[in-house]
Amino acid sequence: MRLYEQKKWWKRALALIAICIGVFSIWYTSKLVKQLANEEQKKIKLWANATQSMAKAEGNIDFLLNIVTGNETIPIILTDNNDKIISYRNLDSIQAKDTAFLNAELIEMKNQHDPIKIVYDAENNFYNLLYYKNSVILTQLKAYPAIQLALISFFAIMSYLALSSSRRAEQNQVWVGMSKETAHQLGTPISSLNEWINLLRETPKEEQDYLLDELQNDTKRLELITERFSKIGSEPVLKEENMDLVVENSMQYLKTRVSSQVAIHINIIQPGNWAKINIPLFDWVLENLCKNAIDAMNGKGELNINISSDIKHVYIDIRDTGKGIPKSKFNTVFKPGYTTKKRGWGLGLSLVKRIVEEYHKGKIFVRNSELGKGTTFRIMLNAI
Ligand SMILES: Nc1ncnc2c1ncn2[C@@H]1O[C@H](COP(=O)(O)OP(=O)(O)O)[C@@H](O)[C@H]1O
Ligand SMILES: [Mg+2]
Repeated sequence: MRLYEQKKWWKRALALIAICIGVFSIWYTSKLVKQLANEEQKKIKLWANATQSMAKAEGNIDFLLNIVTGNETIPIILTDNNDKIISYRNLDSIQAKDTAFLNAELIEMKNQHDPIKIVYDAENNFYNLLYYKNSVILTQLKAYPAIQLALISFFAIMSYLALSSSRRAEQNQVWVGMSKETAHQLGTPISSLNEWINLLRETPKEEQDYLLDELQNDTKRLELITERFSKIGSEPVLKEENMDLVVENSMQYLKTRVSSQVAIHINIIQPGNWAKINIPLFDWVLENLCKNAIDAMNGKGELNINISSDIKHVYIDIRDTGKGIPKSKFNTVFKPGYTTKKRGWGLGLSLVKRIVEEYHKGKIFVRNSELGKGTTFRIMLNAI
């Protein structure tokens, strides 16, 4: 539960930061837009003033236009006292030949800004009106924050969806795999229990002892499985154990269930390799690794388990003569859901890694592997 609480807070914090960034960038660009608009207005006024004084002095309208031509970005239209268009600048030169286009532009300019009055002759009420609109840069800049925001939101939403869907897929895989693994583990002892019960029914009372022993073996197995599953997710109790015996006992069970075409050897370099482990969980590790090895050999080959140690570590190497793992997949094989088997769930090794590294503070990795020749997995535990 705590995990999900934490996640919720993280999500909120990230969303808040994203909103802050968005608001700041909009605020900043709109500040720029305002500045630029002010600049443009100032420029136009300056030109208008200059034009007015020049025109008054010279009475020369061409001169007026020449000055205004100094402006190369802000579209302008000059009209006379009757609002008749005299001249224009910085409008699309081809389209501007069309009066309808010019009139439309004029209306837009009227909507955007009040015109600047250039008075030539106050007595005869002779003046021109200078209309202008925002330059292309300013127009684009005004649209920029909205476009920016839309793009950022789009990417944020897309990446959130992509991430959460891939996470959900992984979670689903783990759920389904876990259920399958449970069912699979329970399947064998349950069906053999049923067989024993049928046999028991047909056996006279005095001969039932052997069958009862077998029944007990299966219930023990069921107990072990329950223990394993209950240990996943809670802190397991670790005890000092002789790994030589742990491995031998574990293999004893496996040997009875594996085809006789798989030769299993345990090589103890020097006896007495002690480590702190939880037996039910560690058995699960060995069982998973050996099952994979046997799968890789298609049920035929040699399985070697080497136990060795130095001052710091106990090493358990599980070597098979199977199909091997490509180098590029040495890490991938431990990811939940990675499998190359038709009926695989790709959970075995991720469970193994979790048990070794999180519960036992050890390490597990592919020590080496050659395609078509075999693979060695190494478990490294802290020695005591
Ligand atoms: N000893 C091995 N030799 C070759 N490939 C292996 C071996 N162990 C694991 N693999 C590869 O790693 C994959 C993942 O293994 P695992 O997590 O146990 O899932 P699963 O056994 O359900 O496929 C296997 O499908 C296989 O391709
Ligand atoms: Mg497996």
